[in-house]
Amino acid sequence: MTEGRFALERAGLDALRAALDRLDEGFAGLPALEAADDGDAAGLRRVLLETAARLTDNYPYFHPLYAGQMLKPPDPVARLAYALATWINPNNHALDGGRASSAMEKEAVAGLARLFGWDEHLGHLCGGGTMANLEALWAAGRLAPGRTVLASAQAHYTHGRISGVLGLPFEEVAADRLGRLDAEALARRLERGGVGTVVVTLGTTATGSVDPLTEILRLKERHGFRLHVDAAYGGYFRLAENLDAPARRAFDAIGEADSIVVDPHKHGLQPYGCGCVLFRDPSVGRLYRHDSPYTYFSSSELHLGEISLECSRPGASAVALWATMRMLPLERGGAFARRLEDSRAAALDLHARLARDPRFLPAFRPELDIVVWLVRDASLSACSARARSVFAEAARRNLHLALAELPAAFFDLEGAGIAKDRDTVTCLRSVLMKPEHREWIGAIWAALDAAAGA
Ligand SMILES: Cc1ncc(COP(=O)(O)O)c(C=O)c1O
Repeated sequence: MTEGRFALERAGLDALRAALDRLDEGFAGLPALEAADDGDAAGLRRVLLETAARLTDNYPYFHPLYAGQMLKPPDPVARLAYALATWINPNNHALDGGRASSAMEKEAVAGLARLFGWDEHLGHLCGGGTMANLEALWAAGRLAPGRTVLASAQAHYTHGRISGVLGLPFEEVAADRLGRLDAEALARRLERGGVGTVVVTLGTTATGSVDPLTEILRLKERHGFRLHVDAAYGGYFRLAENLDAPARRAFDAIGEADSIVVDPHKHGLQPYGCGCVLFRDPSVGRLYRHDSPYTYFSSSELHLGEISLECSRPGASAVALWATMRMLPLERGGAFARRLEDSRAAALDLHARLARDPRFLPAFRPELDIVVWLVRDASLSACSARARSVFAEAARRNLHLALAELPAAFFDLEGAGIAKDRDTVTCLRSVLMKPEHREWIGAIWAALDAAAGA
């Protein structure tokens, strides 16, 4: 394990300086302008150091011993390209404000659409998964006004909230023991009618479970609802070659959806906020139609604001994503895909260690790279208390895990002799998003082992 100071990556700073020179050169034809006042260099340094000091009051998200929530450091190329773009500070609302970065956004988004098998599409970047899902459900609601949105009990809570914002009825469908949408419960609900949209989650937030998309597609044939895939977390796993068969089938079928959300700021190595919404049928663009008295004058080409609900948006997000996809193309077997495979391998390794250890009880085998487990005790209440204390003990040993409140049905309580004195249980949860987690599982295990005691 690394002793002493952990070195934050900074090798790219020279490349950033060179890129800034190149950017400057591009505007050399302008009348000379004094560089912005740098008179208060001492003040700048003081405030930046104060800022750095404030930022140390964070969990160490960049370090492999941070294995808690969905937090992953951006790739250096994303971080630097984002910073570089802020010298120009383009706004991707309209080509007036972000000509180059809008073109880069269209290219990057087309790359994401191709990841899901779509040569034709309509889509754009936005603030994150919530905003992207809002746009998808907004379009769904415009196409089927007043009809119900369904999502599994394990879908992200945002779908219920978004439906409320949009004034659409929303209902939960039961999840099964593996945290997936229960297709039989869905079939029963569909028979009652009134459903406009079914949200299918490929990679749930709590457990990374993958809803049975192919079965749900069969129900779509019969009932004709709109199918929206929330792959905010899991979307990039379409590239991974070490998925189990059910998840593989679902990711292979993802292109059959009407709309897809994927978050480059989760597994796509981007800084926050970078979400993406994609529509299979580009004609949904008509739903966005509006005039703007302020923008859209500089070109008759598509301005991204014409197909998005947000107006001002950071061109820097598009620049960072574009640069990352240049450096790490979305290809099966490529470096980017291998990193996802490492994350999944780390999750399988941790799951196997937990299953062998009598102190713990893991839930089902992870479908992606998220592992959840109980700290065994006589009852679920006692297990919950134990999970909270191991969580705190682990943090004292620099291992940062997460806690989750999950259905008791996810665990084989009978086999483990645990009394079911409540319906949910507080468990430990680890999102092994960083490829380094694969190498660090030994260190993670050592800290967990010590935190859990004998
Ligand atoms: C499956 C899923 N959908 C939607 C969201 C919401 O995304 P965001 O936090 O980027 O708004 C999340 C966040 O974890 C998620 O996991």
